[in-house]
Amino acid sequence: MTEEVEIKEGLQGVYIAKSSISKVNGEEGKLYYRGYKIEDLAEKSTYEEVCYLILYGKLPNSKELDSFSNELKKERILSDETIEIIKRMSKKAHVLDTLRTAMSSISADDPEPYSSEEEKNVHKAVKIIAKTATISAAIGRVRKGKDIIPPDDSLGHAKNFLYMLTGEKPDNKKAKLMDVMFILHAEHSSNASTFAALVACSTLADIYSAVVAGEAALKGPLHGGADEAAVKMMQAIGEPGNTEKYINEVLASKEKIMGFGHRVYKAYDPRARILKKYLDEIDGNGEEEVNKLVKIALNTEKIMVDRLGKSHGIWPNVDFFAGPLYMHLGIEPELFDVIFSSSRTVGWCAHVIEYWRNNKLFRPLEEYDGALDLEYKPINER
Ligand code: CMC
Repeated sequence: MTEEVEIKEGLQGVYIAKSSISKVNGEEGKLYYRGYKIEDLAEKSTYEEVCYLILYGKLPNSKELDSFSNELKKERILSDETIEIIKRMSKKAHVLDTLRTAMSSISADDPEPYSSEEEKNVHKAVKIIAKTATISAAIGRVRKGKDIIPPDDSLGHAKNFLYMLTGEKPDNKKAKLMDVMFILHAEHSSNASTFAALVACSTLADIYSAVVAGEAALKGPLHGGADEAAVKMMQAIGEPGNTEKYINEVLASKEKIMGFGHRVYKAYDPRARILKKYLDEIDGNGEEEVNKLVKIALNTEKIMVDRLGKSHGIWPNVDFFAGPLYMHLGIEPELFDVIFSSSRTVGWCAHVIEYWRNNKLFRPLEEYDGALDLEYKPINER
C-alpha cells in the first residue's frame, strides 16, 4: 500500500530557510532589504551602498563605502579569455547563455573557487558583481558589431555601466534611473533563481557555480524574461488606442499579460509603484518610440488593475514598467535579461553566503507514479 503524500506544486507556501536579507510582504505590497524600506533605498541610496548593505547586513559609513566602491572598480576588468568568449558567442547566442559561459570562465581565473571562509566569499561576490556588469555591457556592444568599451574608474557603477554599453556618459537623471533599476532588482528573497543558486551551493559547489545556476533559472519568461516579453507585447500593441482590444483578446484566450501577477505579491508590487513614477515623468518627454510604449504601458496598467487588481490579486510586477524605462536609457529588449541578472547577482551571492552558515543539502522527494517490475526483453524482441 502506498502512503498518501501531499505534493506542494512549485513549492508554493514552503519555507526553505531562515534569512535576514530581505522581507517581501506580499499581502501589503512591501519590500525591505535588511530592514530598510525599498522606497527609501531607491530614493536615497546607490547600488554600491545597497550591495554593501545586502552583503554585510548594515549600511556602510563613508570610509567603508569608499573602500567597497574602490574594490568594485578594481574588479571591473575582464581577462582576455572572458572577452574572447563574449566575442565568440554574442552574435548568435542568447545574452544569458553568453553571460553564463563568461561567468564560468571567471571561476577558472580563481585559484580557489570554493572557500568555506565567509570573508573570502564576500570578496568573490564583489568580483562577480563588478565583472557581471562589464560582461553585460560588452555583450550589448558585440551583439551590435561595436568595440568593447573598457570601464571608466571615474564613474560609479550605474554611470559606468551605461557608459560601457552606449559609449556616452549619461546625464545625472539617466544615471539615477539606471541606479534605481539596479537597486530594485538587487534582491527578492527565495525567488526561482535564488532558489536555484541555493540548490547548487547546498552541494558545496562554489559561489560561481551557484551564480551560474541563478542565471540559468532567471532566463525564462515567468521570471527574469518577463520584462522583455512585456515590452515586446507593448510593441505588438503598436498604438496606445489598440491597448484595450489587445488586452481583451489575450484575456479571452486565457493567456497571460506578461509583467502582471506574482506568486507572493497579492497587492501592488512596491517596485512597480516606484517605477511607475519614473514612467509618469517620462510620459510625453521621451523619444517617439518610448513615448508610445509609455502610453501603452500606462493604458495596460489601468485596464488590468481595474479588471484583475483587487478582484484577483493580479497587479503589475517590477518587470512590467522596466521595459519602457530601459528603452528610455537606450537599452534594447534583448539585453534586459543580462541587466536583471547583473542587478540580482548580489542577492544570489548574499543568499549563498548566508545559506552556507547552516548548510543542508537540498534533496526533496518525488512521488513515483510509474510502472514497477516490468519484464526486460532483449532488443530484438521489442
Ligand atoms: N495575466 C493574466 N492572468 C494571470 C496572470 C497574468 N499575468 N498571472 C496570473 N494569472 C492568472 C492565471 O491565469 C491563473 O488563473 P486561473 O486560476 O483562472 O487559472 C491565476 O492567475 C494564478 O496564476 P498562476 O500562474 O497559477 O500563479 P503563480 O503563482 O504560479 O504565478 C507568475 C506567478 C508570476 C508565474 C504569473 O503571475 C505569471 O505567469 N505572470 C506573467 C509572467 C511575469 O510577469 N513574471 C514576472 C514575475 S515578477 C519578477 C520576477 O520574479 O522575475
